Amino acid sequence: MYKLIDGKAHSARLRGEIKLRAEKFTEKSGRKIGLAVVLVGDNPASQVYVRNKIKACEETGIKSFANFLPESATQAQVEELVKSLVNDANVDGILVQLPLPAHLDEKAIMSLIPVEKDVDGFSEQNMGRLCLNEKCLVACTPNGVMQMLRAEGIEIRGKNAVVIGRSNIVGKPMAMLLLNADATVTVCHSKTANLKEICRSADILVAAIGRAKFVTADMVKDGAVVVDVGINRNSEGKLCGDVDFEDVKCRCSYITPVPGGVGPMTITMLLYNTVCAAERSL
Ligand code: GUN
Repeated sequence: MYKLIDGKAHSARLRGEIKLRAEKFTEKSGRKIGLAVVLVGDNPASQVYVRNKIKACEETGIKSFANFLPESATQAQVEELVKSLVNDANVDGILVQLPLPAHLDEKAIMSLIPVEKDVDGFSEQNMGRLCLNEKCLVACTPNGVMQMLRAEGIEIRGKNAVVIGRSNIVGKPMAMLLLNADATVTVCHSKTANLKEICRSADILVAAIGRAKFVTADMVKDGAVVVDVGINRNSEGKLCGDVDFEDVKCRCSYITPVPGGVGPMTITMLLYNTVCAAERSL
């Protein structure tokens, strides 16, 4: 019988801890922890994410600084805004919601965020430190996965971990975190040969592909831990993951559902990173 990994429960527990740490920070510093969120344009998915991030801040005693710029914003305008947030002593973390409109130079904008305020963990410095297994701010989604695996008491050391997907936001940092935790890690992607065989060798299988129900039972080893990072919509508009949950679940020792698995942890880890960034500034 498989065990469902309840992302909402893990998230609620962590948010309780975050709230206490935020209160302690305010007692010590005389100000609230601050997270600045920058949204350029009107991508509907981004608007939902940003709204949820702002709401989560309020619930945990973190002050949010919402910055909305129109789709027509120029490179100079966005850069000026980010620079002002970098210099704002009340802002501990800066998050520029991606993707940015196509006319903007994303790399130039992201590179303005200093390592200590990079609560997304996307900067070259934070990614480099992760690679070197040094203390850093870690990308929220893969960090959330690690938190859940650890809290569930799932052994990682010496296990075969397979990550499907090599994005900079999820796949790569996920692989690094698993490697740093002493797993033997394989990263698969669209050009991988023998994908099914590799996946079947996984004690821990992380799907971060972006294709609905991509992982089926024939790709899963008996007793595997299956983590589904996917957020897709099927033809009826219903949310579904990268894993065919109904097909796969009976093979697993543990599995994350969609929704209610990895998703709730992503925002929680953003709050967590913001608290860490603030505490380090004291
Ligand atoms: N767009 C999709 N996911 C993310 C994320 O985790 N951070 C930011 N900044 N943008 C995103």
